[in-house]
Amino acid sequence: MNISRNTSLKSYNTFGIDVNAKQFISINTIDELKELLKQNYSGDLFILGGGSNMLLTKDIDATVTHINILGKRILRKTKNSVYVEALAGENWHQFVLWTLENNWGGLENLSLIPGNIGTAPIQNIGAYGVELKDTFVSCDAIDIQTLESRSFTAEECEFGYRNSIFKNKVKGKYIITGVTFKLKKKNHEIRTNYGAIDEFLKGSGISDPTIQDVSKAIIKIRQQKLPDPRVLGNSGSFFKNPVISAEELTHLIIEYPEIPYYKVSENEAKIPAGWLIDQAGLKGYREGDAGVHKNQALVLVNYGNASGKEILLLAQKVQKKIKEQFHIDLEPEVNIF
Ligand code: EPU
Repeated sequence: MNISRNTSLKSYNTFGIDVNAKQFISINTIDELKELLKQNYSGDLFILGGGSNMLLTKDIDATVTHINILGKRILRKTKNSVYVEALAGENWHQFVLWTLENNWGGLENLSLIPGNIGTAPIQNIGAYGVELKDTFVSCDAIDIQTLESRSFTAEECEFGYRNSIFKNKVKGKYIITGVTFKLKKKNHEIRTNYGAIDEFLKGSGISDPTIQDVSKAIIKIRQQKLPDPRVLGNSGSFFKNPVISAEELTHLIIEYPEIPYYKVSENEAKIPAGWLIDQAGLKGYREGDAGVHKNQALVLVNYGNASGKEILLLAQKVQKKIKEQFHIDLEPEVNIF
């Protein structure tokens, strides 16, 4: 267990925000984690995974606990499937690449998503028509108060769009230590129906793609649209795509006949927040070092030395503009501290 004081968190959050942690602890094993919890730190912990879905607006007064528990293994194999477990500190994308090297299908559409394994279930990460919940079997977690380990099945996680029980009922009560996935050994399902993937594969002359081809296509597409946090600080989509009623949609279509939307139920539709922000003329907008990304308006970026407060002010400005123009409330997808 490595402990330091007044530690800069700049390299621990993908927005690259320079705030300090009063105390910073890096945890390498589940035993170390239990040890730390035993020492009565429980009321005063700030759990940090890959730091890819957070905006830090101030110094953190609590003990920042960096979960760096590494490891992955095969739990069992059946005729068609393999059950694999990855521990919380494993990098998400590196894990996906490992599954693809082994030709296990299921996670290819989730290639190049920033962050770590342990935080992936919290917001049920998703991209290109696939969500974590589709291959998720269970996750192990430690109760911060009682130190008991328990497992959550997919059903118990209550997954929704960028949502789970860990953002609601049991928020802040558990630390996820590992996740088990069920992946396919053969008869892979190729999911390219999300427009851009099909187009990309056709453009590359691939008519019968493998899961590895799908992954490579997604990596290329993401690299074209989404800024690399190592080059330009960001936290992926800053806002969730809002869900509006069929009635509201009807009104919007009159004014904006080209508005993209996906029906989520009989009476509701999801609108891409990126499109709304783009339409509002804010794509590429910049205030100091805080900006709206020039290729994907859903992503806010830090050009270098923006503070978390400056990014937050920009986010609020975006919300206000979207409310005025479209009467839609945008809800942040990232966690703001
Ligand atoms: N659009 C614009 N202008 C923009 C951005 C988007 O007009 O600046 C339009 C696009 O043309 C398209 C639509 O909005 O018609 C949707 O855009 P895109 O396909 O890029 O997807 P998204 O809805 O913006 C979501 C996820 C992403 C995920 C992609 C691909 C959310 C909040 N975001 O973005 O997730 O990678 O789909 O599946 O659901 C993340 O969560 O960090 C993230 C990047």
